[in-house]
Amino acid sequence: MQENNTVSGVNLTMQTPKENPESFTYVPIGTVHSPFTDIAGMPIQPTGARDVRGTIEIRPEFAAGLKDLEGFSRIILIYAFHRCHGYSLEVKPFLDPMPRGIFATRAPKRPNAIGLSIVRLSGVQGNTIEIEDVDLLDGTPLLDIKPYVPAFDSYCEEKAGWFDAVSHHATSVKSDERFR
Ligand SMILES: C[S@@+](CC[C@H](N)C(=O)[O-])C[C@H]1O[C@@H](n2cnc3c(N)ncnc32)[C@H](O)[C@@H]1O
Repeated sequence: MQENNTVSGVNLTMQTPKENPESFTYVPIGTVHSPFTDIAGMPIQPTGARDVRGTIEIRPEFAAGLKDLEGFSRIILIYAFHRCHGYSLEVKPFLDPMPRGIFATRAPKRPNAIGLSIVRLSGVQGNTIEIEDVDLLDGTPLLDIKPYVPAFDSYCEEKAGWFDAVSHHATSVKSDERFR
């Protein structure tokens, strides 16, 4: 099955493979560049990557979609953990020695290895976006960008499960290779 949608002359295509009608193929809209070429020792969240600069190269056919993005101070990046292989339904997260269900963690080794980082937007030049607070590996394929809207995305008084006791450590704890 194929659904086609043409916007401003660009053909946006979502493909559903015939062999499994419930699976989807996404085409990256660009690539994230960061100082991190190795998983070991890198930050585990944007709060631990303050002022770490990176860039995003958006594929030229999608660059028109960046119009109006500059008015936002943060953007939500949705991307593929491309250096992760396989998944585990229980993991020992970076912040806790207790095994936790994968869906109660932000660990990369997920059935759909999709990451989400809210990074600071410092500029847009053509099809290049400059970002800060980057917790992604260099070369990470970017699937989508959404603007961070505090009125929609910020809930200050909510419970955060097991993270409540440990999330402040994300500013200092670094990654190791456990989820490679
Ligand atoms: C704990 S995850 C959190 C990522 C994101 N902020 C989230 O909550 O989905 C961050 C870790 O994922 C790993 N990582 C980052 N980029 C990756 C990539 N492209 N492929 C595989 N692992 C990656 C590194 O170990 C990094 O420290």
